[in-house]
Amino acid sequence: MTDGKKARKIELFEELKWLYMELYGDEEAFGYFVKILEKNADERRLSLQKLDRIREDDEQWYHSNKLLGMMLYVQNFGGSINGVKGNLPYLEECGINYLHLMPILDSTKGKSDGGYAVSDFRKIRPSLGTMEDLENLADACHEKGISLCFDFVLNHTSDEHAWAKAAKGGDPVAQSRFFIYDNWDIPHKYEETVPQVFPTTAPGNFTWCDEIQKVVMTTFHNYQWDLNYSNPMVFNDMTDNLLYLANRGMDVIRLDAIPYIWKELGTNCRNLPQVHTIIRMMHLACQLVCPGVALLGEVVMEPREVVPYFGPAERPECDILYNVTTMCTTWHSLATRDVRLLAHQMEQVCKLPGNCFFQNYLRCHDDIGWGLDFAFLGQFGIGEVAHKKYLNEWFTGKWPGSWARGELYNDAADLGDARTCGTTASLCGLESGILEALDNKGGEALKRGIDCDLMLHAWLFTQTGIPVIYSGDEIGQLNDYSYHEDPAHWEDSRYLHRGKFDFGLAALRKKKGMMQQVIYDGLQHLKNVRAKYDVFRSDANVYVYYTGDDRVMGLMREYEGQTLVGLFNFSEHPADVKLYPPDEAESLTWVDILTDAEHGPEEGERYTDVHLEGYGFCWMLQKK
Ligand code: GLC
Repeated sequence: MTDGKKARKIELFEELKWLYMELYGDEEAFGYFVKILEKNADERRLSLQKLDRIREDDEQWYHSNKLLGMMLYVQNFGGSINGVKGNLPYLEECGINYLHLMPILDSTKGKSDGGYAVSDFRKIRPSLGTMEDLENLADACHEKGISLCFDFVLNHTSDEHAWAKAAKGGDPVAQSRFFIYDNWDIPHKYEETVPQVFPTTAPGNFTWCDEIQKVVMTTFHNYQWDLNYSNPMVFNDMTDNLLYLANRGMDVIRLDAIPYIWKELGTNCRNLPQVHTIIRMMHLACQLVCPGVALLGEVVMEPREVVPYFGPAERPECDILYNVTTMCTTWHSLATRDVRLLAHQMEQVCKLPGNCFFQNYLRCHDDIGWGLDFAFLGQFGIGEVAHKKYLNEWFTGKWPGSWARGELYNDAADLGDARTCGTTASLCGLESGILEALDNKGGEALKRGIDCDLMLHAWLFTQTGIPVIYSGDEIGQLNDYSYHEDPAHWEDSRYLHRGKFDFGLAALRKKKGMMQQVIYDGLQHLKNVRAKYDVFRSDANVYVYYTGDDRVMGLMREYEGQTLVGLFNFSEHPADVKLYPPDEAESLTWVDILTDAEHGPEEGERYTDVHLEGYGFCWMLQKK
């Protein structure tokens, strides 16, 4: 290690100690924590250490515009970890080089919350494989240039985790790892200020535990016991688990549901300052032990709460965050055919400093919650409850004329706060379009659905960040209604979009004219063009391009004299837009790099007329 690197490590260690002592003021606990760091550093395999060195010199390795991510459930994509390994050639063909495996740690069937109720942080669910299989998969991925992302669920454990079991057995030390109360007095006080995450599927924030005749804090489901991070033992052991998982060969660790990890009576128990201290300390622990690992934060909160989780550039907390606001605003724009909020939203994203780096996505395993900027929408007379109702009706196909097909999630009648589930394709109208085509009503609806689906992906690929597609979206996979028949899942409509990947349908991607082929090839083309042009680099300057048409979103990217304008028609009707060159530019000619067609102005004009079909889009590069 060079002297400079050594000095840097000492600096990081000093900061870590300072934060730890400020939060816990416990020398002995800190001493134990240091041993955890040393042990994990010693255990880190040489091949991973090599990767660490490379990435230490290229700290923003995950910023590359050549990255394309996919998230998938192991059980849905090959049945097991080894099955996924066997299917890597398919992912390679798709051009995937960043793979997020949904939770596969041990978790009890029927009360697993899709794997987010972990009963053992060091054991893979036996039906899916072993830790060794995971390490082998990581090696196989690395050989193919694929980075792996793995969930770390830190807010809670399953009530079947060893700590919870010991707590249920009456062990006071184990009980001190959770929030456990003798009666409902304090829980009731909490309930006065703490909102509910799952108001209908898991109401309330506390659960009565029969075994000990006590009340346990359970912010999510009643079988997910909240960990008490004011106890340094919890922080120590959970960071140990985090480093253990990182050492299995993971490149990115997804920190699940972080805003919730610190609780304080009288507050809403979300985004408290201590959360930031803890995440910063975990980041420091990674920098010291496994600097090649990046942290991806899941912060599903209103926009102003999200960005602080990046931390200041010189003291990062999360390296990457989910771009949840752009995601849900994108769906809002589709249902309203109005991009004004999206443009307003993008103005803010574009102004963020370079360390603020997002994972962009259209759909993930969760519902779409309508966390929109309602203060902004208010100026157009759009009210929160009525608008959420409209969006939910549009996306569940209840609104007259709607072609979207989805289902509601957590529809608590009194809150008017339901959310939406469904796959990208079904929400875009492919499902209803196919039914219409089968009903001999013509293929127009299906074509409209495909166009819409591709436009949304083009919009996704235009943004700075890692575009992550949800497994199945690359072939337009539809909703899976079979969860209605499965008692383990029928209460949770998120399973609507968590269906098995259909390899039979995937084979149709090679059959000309099939919708799978059109979508698959469309996405491949977008990915290839995005990777080819420097203007998609993450250090490009990005601005909103105002098109003068509320239905058409525009984004301008500039890098070393290259200018690209992406235009996206969020409506089913054609639109015409005037494309102006940046002020001082000489050339007035543009090339749509998706079609290679040249476009220029009429004689004597500075602007070029661009015609977009319904859900049309283009990537106009200014010709040199
Ligand atoms: C995260 C996950 C979600 C899960 C919750 C509780 O938000 O994305 O699926 O239900 O955490 O662990």
